[in-house]
Amino acid sequence: GVTRNYDFTVQRGMIAPDGYQKSVILINGQFPGPIIEANWGDTIVVTIHNQITGPEEGTSFHWHGLLQKATPYMDGVPSVQQCPIPPGSSFTYSFQADLYGSSWYHSHYSAQYAGGLLGPMIIHGPSNAKYDIDLGPVFLTDYYHQEYFDILKTATAPLQSGGNPAPLSDNNLINGKGNFDCSTVDPGDTTKCTNNAGVAKFQFTTGKTHRLRLINAGAEALQRFSIDGHTMTVIANDFVPVKPYKTTVVTLGIGQRTDVLVTANQGSSTSSFWMRSNISTICSLAKQPNALAAIYYDRADTSKTPTSTAWNVPDPGTCANDDLSITEPYYTITPNAPTTTTTMEINFFINSTGNFLWTLDGTSFRANYNNPLLLLANVGKLDFPDIWNVKNFGSNSTVRVIINNNSPAAHPMHLHGHNMQVLHEGPGQWDGTITRASNPQRRDVQQIRVGGHMVFQYDTDNPGVWPFHCHIAWHVSSGLYANMMERPLDIKNVLTIPTILSQTCTQWALYTANKVVN
Ligand code: C2O
Repeated sequence: GVTRNYDFTVQRGMIAPDGYQKSVILINGQFPGPIIEANWGDTIVVTIHNQITGPEEGTSFHWHGLLQKATPYMDGVPSVQQCPIPPGSSFTYSFQADLYGSSWYHSHYSAQYAGGLLGPMIIHGPSNAKYDIDLGPVFLTDYYHQEYFDILKTATAPLQSGGNPAPLSDNNLINGKGNFDCSTVDPGDTTKCTNNAGVAKFQFTTGKTHRLRLINAGAEALQRFSIDGHTMTVIANDFVPVKPYKTTVVTLGIGQRTDVLVTANQGSSTSSFWMRSNISTICSLAKQPNALAAIYYDRADTSKTPTSTAWNVPDPGTCANDDLSITEPYYTITPNAPTTTTTMEINFFINSTGNFLWTLDGTSFRANYNNPLLLLANVGKLDFPDIWNVKNFGSNSTVRVIINNNSPAAHPMHLHGHNMQVLHEGPGQWDGTITRASNPQRRDVQQIRVGGHMVFQYDTDNPGVWPFHCHIAWHVSSGLYANMMERPLDIKNVLTIPTILSQTCTQWALYTANKVVN
């Protein structure tokens, strides 16, 4: 493969993607950030220049879903795999496009990606189904008018009246666009708001089959995506090609992707249709849950808005993905017998200062950027402070994990470094059965419903420390996170960890020596 070079300058800016002016953090001035594209097997090199000032913040970037085999120090999780990139510094990531399909990259520092540091990432590879036109990313983001750090404070603040404390999103955008009804903003804010900011537009060619790459890159919301009048054929979930199946609605939890094929065979060459993504308001907290984008056939007037009507598919309200029985990987892998099995509980509690925190397996993980990196200084040890929430699987060759969700929210659970073999998911406790044991679903994010369970497995072919967490920005930042330690002796003896890794911490220490860092 070849090398694909990208240069990202990260700084604060004002934008109004839905007409409402707000302060965000941008990559090269863009929202969403620039698309990263490569072919399977290429090397991707991204240099980040942290120019975040007023106030300053550290940053670090994660390449969602890529395996980072032999490069766990390029996975971008601060306090685990690297120290934050300090303001005024640069850092160069270099890694292989080791899977292909549709994904995204995002900051993994605090809940910073919800403040703007995110963008699509497409790795081109062989296709398991024929299509004519690749329309690229359909980037779905719930959208907040508050700054991310203020939302995070609300999400972990002492509870007023019980229940889930995360705030409601204000809007829902497709490819960073959407309209907002300015009559709903506070009277003091009306000068910041313009109606009819405009929606994203897509072009269909009559008779042709189009590939759309749906990406849920939001902070909290479960999305239900559909196209008026058209059925969709699902061909991949996350980075895993699946045996094609038809649907009218695709459900995506945060972090999930679904590639669909759509044939332009409705209406005439002047037709137009809405593409819509609705936040499931049963599962998520949203003021304006409905995102729209316009699809125009060949000669349709693109200055007019479509008048099509939505499919009538009621929200099942389970907050679950499509049933595992229908999401069958295109390439068969039969799971091995597990060499270790562990059960983890998802829960929450109110701490001594009244703050709301999430726990995974009884611990609420807190990143501490001044601790020694788990990946660097601590491998080979057996004991870790509880607060680091390390699950050390030693030299086990196949790990099975059973998760029980005892919380009143559904969670999109994400594992770094692997595609999870999802053996089972459903309400209540696991009954021990495996859905399609000969070839279970694989993907890197799986939705777990309220009061439900999820069982997954992976082979430990990737020495490293791999985060396993809920991908809801407010949940991961308030503790719903564990560090899966894989083959610690091989991290120490087989991997070559370059000196740039320890340099990130030297730089961060120099920076913090003169500052008070949150
Ligand atoms: Cu999309 Cu831990 O990340």
